[in-house]
Amino acid sequence: MSPDRMGLCVGEADTKHVSIIAKRMPEVGEYAVIEYDGHRVLAVVEEVTRGSATISEKLLSAETVERIVRIEGAGEQYIRARLRLLGEVESLGMVKLPPPPGAPVYRADPGTLRRIFSSGNIKLGTLLSHPEVEVYIDANRMVTRHLAVLAITGAGKSNTVSVLIDGLLRLGGMPVVFDMHSEYAEAEFSGEVRVLKPKLNPRYMLYAELRRLVNIDDKAYIQERYLREAHRHALSHGRGSMIDVMLAYLEEVYSGEELTATEKNSVSGVMNKLQDFRERYGEILDEHAPEMVELLTPGALNVVDLGEVDEDYADVIVSHLLRKLLLRRKRREVAPAFCILEEAHILAPAHRSTLSKYWIDRIAREGRKFGIGLCLVSQRPKSLDPNSLSQANNAIIMRLVEPSDQRHVQQASERLSDELLAQLSSLNTGEAVVLGLMTRLPALVKVMKFRGKLAGGDPDVVAEWQQMAEKEREEGERLRREVDELYSGLD
Ligand SMILES: Nc1ncnc2c1ncn2[C@@H]1O[C@H](COP(=O)(O)OP(=O)(O)OP(=O)(O)O)[C@@H](O)[C@H]1O
Ligand SMILES: [Mg+2]
Repeated sequence: MSPDRMGLCVGEADTKHVSIIAKRMPEVGEYAVIEYDGHRVLAVVEEVTRGSATISEKLLSAETVERIVRIEGAGEQYIRARLRLLGEVESLGMVKLPPPPGAPVYRADPGTLRRIFSSGNIKLGTLLSHPEVEVYIDANRMVTRHLAVLAITGAGKSNTVSVLIDGLLRLGGMPVVFDMHSEYAEAEFSGEVRVLKPKLNPRYMLYAELRRLVNIDDKAYIQERYLREAHRHALSHGRGSMIDVMLAYLEEVYSGEELTATEKNSVSGVMNKLQDFRERYGEILDEHAPEMVELLTPGALNVVDLGEVDEDYADVIVSHLLRKLLLRRKRREVAPAFCILEEAHILAPAHRSTLSKYWIDRIAREGRKFGIGLCLVSQRPKSLDPNSLSQANNAIIMRLVEPSDQRHVQQASERLSDELLAQLSSLNTGEAVVLGLMTRLPALVKVMKFRGKLAGGDPDVVAEWQQMAEKEREEGERLRREVDELYSGLD
């Protein structure tokens, strides 16, 4: 098959960019090969413009334009494209010589592109402008260099995450998903799905975790001191329910004679808060629960189901498990893990401190050495902690509309060029800009549809309304029949 000639280089070029006059309309994101001086250079179309030398902007009369079109037709129009040079085709090594004017430019052939995009071990999808070319990503680099999956709601983040999870399971990996909306527990993957009920044993909790849930501010010094004392006491008295032991201890302190009225107030305040804590979290506190990290299973998707807990509790669970995981990994006591955090902007917010944020940031910085990867998933990138985000070397960015979100993402990722940024608002569902070390080149990708079922897809609300209306109508009919029968019996 003869190569598909896209056009010819024109004007001045450097080693980064070249303009071409195209023979047909190229697509933004389409790959091209430029041949000159014994080099074959890979390039990507970043911008396409079309115009006419004769029908210029200086023309001010519609009649004149009509006359020229009648005489010339569309023949005199030109298509110009700006291409970014990516590297030598074989090595992707740096381009050292700018292409000369007149050098031929071809559409990159599938074989060349496959060599570049098929080198990973998890299939993500296909190139948007070359659907015949599959895109694979490198699982090692994805896990050790972390990943951010960012897009507006409904753009396809959870679908993408599911494709990645499935790929990891095929490789025997250990994905752990913190599932804020119970989306993954019921899904069907290539491996086993283990749902971990988020039970916490107060004995294994750090004091800071307990304080957060008991809702005592660290500036409430006196209450804080009593809670800390009660906690220390309960830990050294191993028997019985920990909360009971703490309450009994505080009761004893309260009845002591040496306390002032203010101190008594504080002690009873702590006791009330401990009782509230027990009532509020009764179902998820379990004094016999094993450490969650012990329950993680390699080769299975581990789903920490946070669908029914509040944000404070989710924060404690996530931070607790991340902390234990990092600790155990340092001692090589658990398998390498890829931790997926849905709604990452809630767990690691930009302008608030949470327990999880601290551990997310620690793993973002240290995880690479120990084989713990983070995947931060968010529909509000600008609310996401910029420190953690900038540690994510890989990114899958789907439709993002708000300029402030786009800017925030660009600041965190030096690889996101202005041209790719400009694409973000026009992407369709499932289309993504893929960046980072997990792929050899940044690419516009159509992510494949996850073949297993996933809860949380777009619901058919109209069908649901219609079903409800139908049910209501049937119910009304039934009632009418019953009343009719009743009256006919009376006649
Ligand atoms: N690559 C894709 N191909 C085809 N359909 C897709 C693709 N990605 C997502 N969809 C569909 O789009 C809908 C929304 O996808 P998804 O739930 O993944 O979005 P999301 O970004 O996670 O949304 P949210 O922010 O609300 O969690 C789903 O019905 C899903 O099946
Ligand atoms: Mg989602």
